[in-house]
Amino acid sequence: MVMELNGLTVGLILSTIMPILYYLYHVSRSKSKSLPPAYKGWFPWLGCAFEFGKNPLDFIAQKKELGRIFTLYVAGERLTFITDAEDFQYFFQSPFVDFQKAVQDPVLNVASVSKTSFFKYHTKIHDMVKGRLASSRLIYFSDKLCDEFRDQLTQLGKQGKGDLHHLVRKTMYAAVINNLFGKNVLPVNSEKEFEKLEEMFVMFDEQFEYGARIPSVFLKDWSSAKKYLIDLFSKVVPKTINKKSDDDETLLHSLLNLVQDQYKPNYSLLLLWASLANAIPPQAM
Ligand SMILES: *[C@@H]1O[C@H](CO)[C@@H](O)[C@H](O)[C@H]1NC(C)=O
Repeated sequence: MVMELNGLTVGLILSTIMPILYYLYHVSRSKSKSLPPAYKGWFPWLGCAFEFGKNPLDFIAQKKELGRIFTLYVAGERLTFITDAEDFQYFFQSPFVDFQKAVQDPVLNVASVSKTSFFKYHTKIHDMVKGRLASSRLIYFSDKLCDEFRDQLTQLGKQGKGDLHHLVRKTMYAAVINNLFGKNVLPVNSEKEFEKLEEMFVMFDEQFEYGARIPSVFLKDWSSAKKYLIDLFSKVVPKTINKKSDDDETLLHSLLNLVQDQYKPNYSLLLLWASLANAIPPQAM
C-alpha cells in the first residue's frame, strides 16, 4: 500500500512538475534567445559600472564587438545600445513605446524633478515650447538671433588664433542664451563666468544620456556640473520672475510663469539643455 502510494505520488509529481519545468526551461531559452548579446561585467548588480563610468564613449565603441545591438549591465540597469541608424525605426515605431513615461525617469535623474511635478507640468511645458518655437513662428526669432550672432562676432576682434569648434560653440551658445533666456540673464558678458558656464554645460551635455540612467555617484564630474548649473539658475529665477511680463517675454519667462512649484531652477536647466544641445553641429570624433 505504502509502496503503491509512493509510486502514485511520484507519478503525480512527475506529471505535474515536469511540464512546468519544461515550460520554464523553454521560456527562459526563448527569452534569452530574443535578447541582444550582453556584457555583465564582474560585479553582481554593479555590472560594468566602473569600467563604463570611466569613459563611456570609448567603452561603448569597444563593446561594439558584441554586435550592432547589445546590452550593458550598469548599476542595476540594462542599457541597450542600438549602434546602426538603420535599426532605430524598429524601436521608435514600436507601439510599446510611450514617450512621456519613457522620459519621466530620465528627467528625475537628470534634473531631480519629482514624478508628481513631471506629470503635472510635462504636457503644459511641451505645448508652450512647441507653440513658442513652432516653425511658423521662427521668423520672430531669426532677426534677433542674427543680431546676437553679429554682436558676438564683433566682440572677437579682427585677428587671433584659436580652436574653430570652440569659437563656434562659444558664439552660438551666447547668442542662443541671450535670445531664449533674456539678454545677460545668464552671465554671457562676463568672460570668466561664461567660460565656466560653457565648461560645465559641455560636461553636462556630454554625459547626459548616462546621467539619465546611472546613479550619480558613478558620474562625479557630471554631477558637479549639474549642481553648478542648477545653483546658477537658483539665482536667476527670482530675478526673472520679478520682471514684468511683456510682449517680448522670453522662453525662460514663459516657463517660469507656467511652473508654480519649487522645481523652477530644475526645469530651467532642462530648458537650457534643450536649447543648447543642438545649437551647434557635433564635433567629429
Ligand atoms: C533641484 O535639483 C537639485 C540638484 O540635483 C536638488 O538638490 C534639488 O533638491 C532639486 N529641487 C527640488 C525642489 O527638489
